[in-house]
Amino acid sequence: PQIKLVVADTLSAAKAVAQIIADQVKVKPNAVLGLPTGSTPIPVYEELVKMYQAGLIDFEQVRTFNLDEYVGLKPDHPESYAAFMAKHLFSKINIPTCQTHLLDGLTPNPESECKAYEDRLVKEGGMDLLFLGIGENGHLGFNEPFSQVGEGTRMVMLTVETRLANSRFFSAIDQVPTHALTMGLRTILSSKSIVLLAIGKKKAKAIKMCLEGEIKDEWPCSVLKGHEDVLVVCDGDAASGM
Ligand code: GLP
Repeated sequence: PQIKLVVADTLSAAKAVAQIIADQVKVKPNAVLGLPTGSTPIPVYEELVKMYQAGLIDFEQVRTFNLDEYVGLKPDHPESYAAFMAKHLFSKINIPTCQTHLLDGLTPNPESECKAYEDRLVKEGGMDLLFLGIGENGHLGFNEPFSQVGEGTRMVMLTVETRLANSRFFSAIDQVPTHALTMGLRTILSSKSIVLLAIGKKKAKAIKMCLEGEIKDEWPCSVLKGHEDVLVVCDGDAASGM
């Protein structure tokens, strides 16, 4: 299998991903979607909200599972991924809250929380479509370099580079959580189809490692080569490393 690649200008790239999500929901109104956070997906969520307002997509039966969550942030902390999803998508569309699944970063027992999340995902039938962003170091969700392909949802320690990259959202680096809960690479690869969006020069190396060469432990994104239905959507800058 070969990863498909589409290169477009920044706005068209976001619109293309939104259209893929809308098409999935049209084909299967109760689709299970895997969803990311970060700055890259924001224009996609804006587009989905516009489509919803125009009556072009209905989220009534859709079920969602987020990729990851910081450990230690309350759900109403503005940088928690729960707050991010509420702000950018869930509060603006007609998805019932009980159908939106997020890992609980405040759980006293991360292991059982992660196990229960995997079980819920299986019970809902698994992901039909997983929308991914990508870290500068090639992380998917919070699967940092040297994550293993057999790993499921679990608690991980964040690398300094990821904490630095994400510190732009916090008042200082020491405010960025040190740990997170994340779907594992195994969980990610279990989705029936995957669409990854990458924007900007900072992602060029990771995109190159995702699309070219062998699967390497240093580049978690490279495991996508082992999946048979992956589409990577990039702007010219993100594709410039190839
Ligand atoms: C975070 C998230 C990832 C996301 C990445 C890139 O660390 N855990 O899921 O893909 O950052 O974020 P951005 O789109 O802001 O570059």
